[in-house]
Amino acid sequence: MQKLELLYEGKAKKVYTTDDENVYIVDYKDDATAFDGKKKGQIVGKGVINNRMSNLLFQYLEKTYGIPTHYVKELSDRETAVKKVSIVPLEVIVRNIAAGSFSKRFGVAEGTQLKVPTLEYCLKDDNLGDPMINDSHIIALGLASKEDLDTIADITYKVNKGLKEFFEKIGIELVDFKIEFGRLPSGEIILADEISPDTCRLWDINTHEKLDKDRFRRDLGGVEEAYNEVFKRIGLGK
Ligand code: TMP
Ligand code: ASP
Repeated sequence: MQKLELLYEGKAKKVYTTDDENVYIVDYKDDATAFDGKKKGQIVGKGVINNRMSNLLFQYLEKTYGIPTHYVKELSDRETAVKKVSIVPLEVIVRNIAAGSFSKRFGVAEGTQLKVPTLEYCLKDDNLGDPMINDSHIIALGLASKEDLDTIADITYKVNKGLKEFFEKIGIELVDFKIEFGRLPSGEIILADEISPDTCRLWDINTHEKLDKDRFRRDLGGVEEAYNEVFKRIGLGK
């Protein structure tokens, strides 16, 4: 498969068109940003980890839970062929334990176990600071239909169940995560983007040590070590 044109460069990935009109190639970078791109840096080796970890998790979710994803084929350490989709401009967030913006907004201590997993949507727009948005807003703005949102919620809860089980087995608590969905030309909604320490809060089950991008966001140090630790526990790193 050949990369043709750079279609889009995001904060952490580049997307290329290919000689197959139904397939794009995603190329993962080491660049890291936070706070809608205002904080910038690099996490050495992150591109490789996020690429290979996302691919492993997408394949696991497809195989174990029948969740449709954009994954086609890993081409190299940083590059993956994915199905061509148009991204639904929503950040779909699930929280099992209070942390981050949820703790801030509702005055709940980080680490508080939530009674049920919570689902929340943000509009994907850095210029607006990715504001929280509700079902009614999403439908009114034509970003997704009621049926699309039902599908998204259904898949998202299954992803949460699958990921929680996966991470528990390797001594990691899935605190929260963000996923994105894409639409195929047929209209079908599938899981897209990535699932990685950039997009999940992952805490060691015993020590509650943070093993994710919060180490970068909050200048906690040991950023690369945390990404490598997760990579090792999922059976891919040394
Ligand atoms: P939050 O607590 O800052 O709202 O983050 C919730 C989850 O979403 C957390 O796992 C980190 C992830 N996330 C992203 O993947 N991208 C983002 O731009 C933000 C703000 C959060
Ligand atoms: N990806 C987000 C940004 O650069 C930040 C984050 O993950 O916190 O804005």
